[in-house]
Amino acid sequence: MFEKVEPAPPDPILGLGEEFKADPEPAKVNLTVGVYRDGAGETPILDVVRDAEAKLLETVATKSYAPIAGDPGYEAAVQDLVLEDGGPLSAARAEGRAVTVDTAGGTGGLRIAGELLRSTGAATTVWISDPTWENHASVFRAAGLGVSTYPYLDRTSGRLAFGEMFEALEKVPSGDVVLLHGCCHNPTGVDPSPAQWHEIAALLGSRDVVPLVDFAYQGLGRGITEDAESLSILAGSCPEMIVCNSFSKNFGLYNERVGALSVICSEKSVAEAVSSRLKAVIRATWSNPPVHGAHIVTTVLGDPELRSRWEDEVRSMRDRIRSMRRLLVEALEERGVTRDVRYLVEQQGMFAYSGLDVEQARRLRDEFAVYVLDSGRMNVAGITTENLDRLADALAAVWAG
Ligand SMILES: Cc1ncc(COP(=O)(O)O)c(C=O)c1O
Repeated sequence: MFEKVEPAPPDPILGLGEEFKADPEPAKVNLTVGVYRDGAGETPILDVVRDAEAKLLETVATKSYAPIAGDPGYEAAVQDLVLEDGGPLSAARAEGRAVTVDTAGGTGGLRIAGELLRSTGAATTVWISDPTWENHASVFRAAGLGVSTYPYLDRTSGRLAFGEMFEALEKVPSGDVVLLHGCCHNPTGVDPSPAQWHEIAALLGSRDVVPLVDFAYQGLGRGITEDAESLSILAGSCPEMIVCNSFSKNFGLYNERVGALSVICSEKSVAEAVSSRLKAVIRATWSNPPVHGAHIVTTVLGDPELRSRWEDEVRSMRDRIRSMRRLLVEALEERGVTRDVRYLVEQQGMFAYSGLDVEQARRLRDEFAVYVLDSGRMNVAGITTENLDRLADALAAVWAG
C-alpha cells in the first residue's frame, strides 16, 4: 500500500532549525522560529499560567469529555476578550448572532472554518495575502477550498502595498472569503492603519465578501484592546465575519493547542444553524476538544487579579519586542547603514521582514551563523542584548554588498 508513497516536501522552517542545531559556531543566532523568546532567549511559562494551573489542580474534578464546542465558560471568556467592542461585535453577541467554538489552537480554528465553508457550500475560495503565514494555503486546500492571493507588501519600502491590495480586493467575487491578519501580520509585521481598515471593511461589505480574521497575536502589537480594533471596524461594515483566535502566543500556551473559532452571522436563526454545522464538523474531526489550555485561559481571564497580571505579562512581551526593534535600528544606523530601515520599528508584533533577499539570507547564515528564513522573515523576539551586535554586524555587511 505505501510503497509508492513519495515523501512530503521538507518543511523549510524545520529544516533551518536542523541546520542551526548542527552549526558549530558557539555564538550562532536563531531568528527562524515562531515563538516568543525573553531577554534570556527562553520561551517561559507565564507566571499567571503557572498560578492558574495550580488553582486548577485543586478545583478540576473530572477528566470526562467536554461538550463538542468546548466549555460554555470558555466560549464566554473568548467572546469577552475578542468580541466585546461596545459596538457592532457586542451587538452581534447580544442578539445571539455570534457563535464561538473551542479549537485546537489557531490552526484548528482555521481548519474547522475551512471545513464549515466547504461542507455547507457557503464558499469555495479563500483569498490570502502574498506573503502570508506559510500554513494558510495548506490548511484551506486540505479542507477542499480553492486558494487565491492578493498583493500585500511593497518589498522595496518594507511597507503595505495598500493601493495594489485594494485593487485586487475590488476584484474578489461576491461570496468569496478574504483572510486578513487582525494584527501583527505574519510574516511581514505590516498592518493596515485604522483608516485603511475602514476602507477594506467598506469594500468587503459592499461586495458581500466575507472577512476571515486570523487573530493569532492579540496584545503583541499595539495592545490587547487596540489590536482588536480591526475586528470591530470590519464588523461595522460586514454583517458576516469569521474570527480565528489563538492563545499560543499571548498566553505562551503553544503546546496546549488552545484557540477558538467565532462566526458572526446576520441573524440569530442563521447562527443557530451555523453552530449545529460547526458541531457536526468538530464531531467528525476531534470529536470534542482538549480543555486543559481552555481552562487555564478561562481561569486567568475570569479572575481580576490574574487577568491584570496577564495584561502586565503581555505588555512586557510587547515592550521587549518593541525595544529590540528600536535597538536594532539604532545599531544599524551606528554601523552606517544608509538604507531606510525605519520600517523595522513601524512593523508590529514578533516578525519583521528584514528586506533581505534569498541570497542575502543565505550569506547571513553561511558567513555569520545568523539564521533568518529565506524570505527574509526574522523573529524579532529572538533578538537579545547578547546577540544584537552580531545581527547588526551581519546585516550591515550583507547590505554593504
Ligand atoms: C498568522 C498565524 N495564524 C495561525 C497560527 C497558528 O497558531 P496555533 O499555534 O495556535 O495553531 C500562527 C502561528 O504561528 C500564525 O502565525
